[in-house]
Amino acid sequence: MQNFIENSPTQLPSSPVKSAAIVPGERQEAPLNTLENFYYTEVEKFLAVKNPFILDLGCGGQSIFSSTYFAKQKIIAVDRDEGLIARAPKDHVTYYCMNVGEIIWQNRFDLALDSHLFHCLTETDERESFLFNIHRSLRPGAIFALETMAAHKGMKFSSDYYYAANKTLYQQSTMRPLRKILSAWEIEQSLLKYFDLLVFKIFVDNKFLLQGNGQEFLATEPDVLRIVCVKKSE
Ligand SMILES: C[S@@+](CC[C@H](N)C(=O)[O-])C[C@H]1O[C@@H](n2cnc3c(N)ncnc32)[C@H](O)[C@@H]1O
Repeated sequence: MQNFIENSPTQLPSSPVKSAAIVPGERQEAPLNTLENFYYTEVEKFLAVKNPFILDLGCGGQSIFSSTYFAKQKIIAVDRDEGLIARAPKDHVTYYCMNVGEIIWQNRFDLALDSHLFHCLTETDERESFLFNIHRSLRPGAIFALETMAAHKGMKFSSDYYYAANKTLYQQSTMRPLRKILSAWEIEQSLLKYFDLLVFKIFVDNKFLLQGNGQEFLATEPDVLRIVCVKKSE
């Protein structure tokens, strides 16, 4: 059993592993991180075009689409952290330092992938404008995919954290909001205004890792929720 670690490579049992040399269009070798695993196992099969135009949301310092496999595709990756974007590799991915609340592209992308960003949006209006903007940025029939934290009754947090009744996880010492950990049902309801669901999956043996050493399975950590959905027509 394994945890899903934000920002860390994680080899999952079902990862597509290829030992051949990496060329454009060929999958990269293991280890894949959880988002790459998500893309290959759950998302790619729903893409209707051969070289989809992709928007990577909350890419951090390197988009998961920076591997050679995606070299022939148009990829835009955004993150609001200026320092991370400044350090991003110079490759086929176009990086923008941008708050997802300010995304104004319209009818452009075949896929928007939430790279563990949604659960960082701690305010209701932030999440609403995010979903509105993503819906508007997608072409008709395009896909929105997200792997995100979901709450469950057995969650427990160390004294470094405070999980409040409003479902916000705060840093205990500063009361800085860190994550919004909603139930799977609440996340589903927020999406249904803009998208129709194709995949809605919670893992039994995997959790997101916020605490611990990354090796042990902690049943008290948030659930991993994977959703793939298609844009509702406007
Ligand atoms: C949990 S990290 C994941 C980073 C990366 N995708 C990874 O898996 O290593 C979430 C990322 O979302 C970015 N982020 C959070 N809120 C954002 C916002 N409103 N607009 C743009 N980026 C945001 C953060 O700067 C951070 O890099």
